[in-house]
Amino acid sequence: MEQITDTFQIEDNYYASFANKTKISIEKGEGVYVYDEYGKKYLDLTAGWGVTSIGHANPVITQALLEQSRKIMQNPNSGATYSPARARLLSLMQEILPENLNRVFFASTGAEANDAAIKLARKATGKLNIISTEKSFHGRTISTVSATGQSKHREKFNPLIPCHIFVPYNDIEAIAQVIDQDVAAVIVEPIQGEGGINVPDSDYLEKLSDLCQEHDVLLIADEIQTGFCRTGSMFASDGVKIDILTMAKGIAGGFPFGAFAMSEEVHDKLEVGDHGGTYCGNPLGCAVAYAVIKYMLDNQICENVKEVGEFAMTELLKLKTEYPHIIKDVRGKGLLLAIELSDEELTASLNAKCLNKGLLINVTQGNVVRMFPALNINIEEMGKGLRIFKDALTEVNPVSN
Ligand SMILES: Cc1ncc(COP(=O)(O)O)c(C=O)c1O
Repeated sequence: MEQITDTFQIEDNYYASFANKTKISIEKGEGVYVYDEYGKKYLDLTAGWGVTSIGHANPVITQALLEQSRKIMQNPNSGATYSPARARLLSLMQEILPENLNRVFFASTGAEANDAAIKLARKATGKLNIISTEKSFHGRTISTVSATGQSKHREKFNPLIPCHIFVPYNDIEAIAQVIDQDVAAVIVEPIQGEGGINVPDSDYLEKLSDLCQEHDVLLIADEIQTGFCRTGSMFASDGVKIDILTMAKGIAGGFPFGAFAMSEEVHDKLEVGDHGGTYCGNPLGCAVAYAVIKYMLDNQICENVKEVGEFAMTELLKLKTEYPHIIKDVRGKGLLLAIELSDEELTASLNAKCLNKGLLINVTQGNVVRMFPALNINIEEMGKGLRIFKDALTEVNPVSN
């Protein structure tokens, strides 16, 4: 058999084709830039799907990986022994988590954290129904697909896990109508990410929390995309009473890691054997997550997100007034930003133009451009990205106004 050495050909031939691939082969990254294997440089406003929260190849991550891997990467007997790396991370997390959520468990992905949250909410309450919102995204395992409010992710995999109820997002009345004594939990994203960066009313979460408390129903905040300073505060749900909070993506800056934090009341209802996993809380992941969170705190990353996010939003709103016929909406919070365009074809050619010009953006829902860069990006870098974006926009649609 002829030996294939070309990256595109090898992946096209042998990798399961679950994604519409862009023909670039990224070999390395530094800060907010990545480089393909032929040396072309790209400004990355996608951060590996909102993951590389403190930039590519941040030395604090490489150092943590090196130091911890020299000591130990996986505990003997997995989670059934103690680990100083895990204890260090748990202590640091007590500083950033809401006061009532002091029981933490680790996972390797966001879907795994949500899966556990749903499973344990049922166990803790002895009830089955889970309320979720339309357009939500909670993961790709069978249980998290069952909780995801988008038919494109669900309909091919029937029968799904039963007892999921869907209501429109940002609609308290709709939840009030279905919440009853059979509901174990409501799972909600504080801002919907994959669903198109949908920002609810400022009092939505608070009202939802009150409603859940009234009915003795647990509130699960899926902060997998919004957590760890992404929207300008450590968690987008800060200040609201949550019972289980799920985390992943930005928590370890690119190392596959996730977590959920729950209240002591929820934890009290759970027992030895209710949950676990070979890699849960492995010391390598814990060491990296510790380094990332410490970096965020030491470098006031939430403040940076607010500042750069405000700058970006101002620039995007200017762009909207210049191109009102093709920019339908600009929305978001912090560094989770969306530009909704008039149609999918235009969005696809805009994406291609950006790529050509060395800018990586992300398209969700066909016509929504999402920008969710590293959280330590500075105004100059963000400004450069927005200028390239504007140039590309002008090329796909030369007539402004
Ligand atoms: C809000 C939300 N929940 C859950 C997930 C699933 O996380 P993972 O891909 O790490 O399983 C995602 C991923 O994009 C997400 O945005």
